[in-house]
Amino acid sequence: MAEWQKSDWRNKPRIQMPDYVDQAALQSVEAKLASYPPLVFAGEARRLKEQLGAASRGEAFLLQGGDCAESFDQFSADGIRDTFKVMLQMAMVLTYGAKVPVVKVGRMAGQFAKPRSAPTEVVDGVELPSYRGDIINELAFTSGSRIPDPSKMLQAYTQAAATLNLLRAFSTGGYADVHQVHSWTLGFTEGEKAAKYRDMANRISDTLDFMAAAGVSSETSHSLRSVDFYTSHESLLLEYEEALTRLDSTSGKWLAGSGHMIWIGDRTRQPDGAHVEFASGVQNPVGLKCGPTTTPEDLKVLMNKLNPENEAGRLTLIARFGAGNVAEHLPRLVKTVKEEGANVLWTCDPMHGNTIKSATGYKTRPFENVLREVREFFGIHKAEGTIPGGVHFEMTGQDVTECTGGVRAVTEEDLSDRYHTACDPRLNASQSLELAFLVAEELSERNDIARAAAV
Ligand code: PEP
Ligand code: CO
Repeated sequence: MAEWQKSDWRNKPRIQMPDYVDQAALQSVEAKLASYPPLVFAGEARRLKEQLGAASRGEAFLLQGGDCAESFDQFSADGIRDTFKVMLQMAMVLTYGAKVPVVKVGRMAGQFAKPRSAPTEVVDGVELPSYRGDIINELAFTSGSRIPDPSKMLQAYTQAAATLNLLRAFSTGGYADVHQVHSWTLGFTEGEKAAKYRDMANRISDTLDFMAAAGVSSETSHSLRSVDFYTSHESLLLEYEEALTRLDSTSGKWLAGSGHMIWIGDRTRQPDGAHVEFASGVQNPVGLKCGPTTTPEDLKVLMNKLNPENEAGRLTLIARFGAGNVAEHLPRLVKTVKEEGANVLWTCDPMHGNTIKSATGYKTRPFENVLREVREFFGIHKAEGTIPGGVHFEMTGQDVTECTGGVRAVTEEDLSDRYHTACDPRLNASQSLELAFLVAEELSERNDIARAAAV
């Protein structure tokens, strides 16, 4: 078989990608990007792969989260800081429940391209091409805005580089200090309605006090002061991905230099399609969305293509079936994985199967359905004796009103107040943290089961 080339995807059917009109402009952008430094390094991607391998064995837990679509307009240091901060708070709560390290992966620094359910959109009788994310075209509903413009890839690269730079600074510069993170978490549980979470927050405080008394503090321990934080995005716009792909001199393998982890969406996971072809040849950890239409036959082929060496941590299966549908779909895929003896990390995306249109016309996701899907996911793994190893959320550190429900209840009428997403509705900071407390409860139960099995 001929050796894999980063351009091989061009020989496969391409869907969900724009047809650029100006080919010369496209080629010039690709050449520029190809000459720029990669955003991540192979050693980091390998380290993440090891940590995801640990999560697949129940020795760690994956928290993946961030915007549905990063936006050029809403790009700001505060936005990055707030999402990073709420992810650290969630991770602290999850660590307490899971009693294992939480691997933190942002949908950040590259999450710009969006697959769409329809190629065009009609508003008041006017039909225009759909918005496909800021790396491709613009959200404004005018014919000019919707023309795909290759130069947007350069702006996306610059924004991703600046985002990653700030994330790296926050991760090691003192901002991630475990005591500081916990004091933010306490702020959330002070509210009357969040009283039910106070007990767990107090137990975390006790643990930190005990550690300090025993001489373990941020001054003495590097791991209490800094965190590993990784980036991920859907590998959708393959011209951008190919241009940032580099040969890693240490391993002799290819690396997608656009982010630590990439994933393949539910709409572009055709076993013979362009997206699977691209992901098959890079060494990064790869996620694969699994939805109601994923068949055991396809999953088998995909696991063989994406992880032929059955390496732990290479492949994360991201289940997204919708609340009420998990029992119908997940067991057959879990069985396929077992039959194949495949090493995979199972995680749950309780967002994409739970999008509805509210009575007020906004796309939203009811918090209770998000939570219910997570519980169903844990329930099936418990019944099958397999490991629920992570969660995947669309969320932001900002106080938006995009998903309904939660202790600081957002109602359908509230949606119009602060509805800022460029694409799908996200959990706000309070809803994200509440979900972390609820998942932590499920995780303590997972531990109890594991302990009982060990005696
Ligand atoms: C997404 O994660 O933003 C997405 C589009 O998900 P899916 O491919 O699962 O629909
Ligand atoms: Co989305």
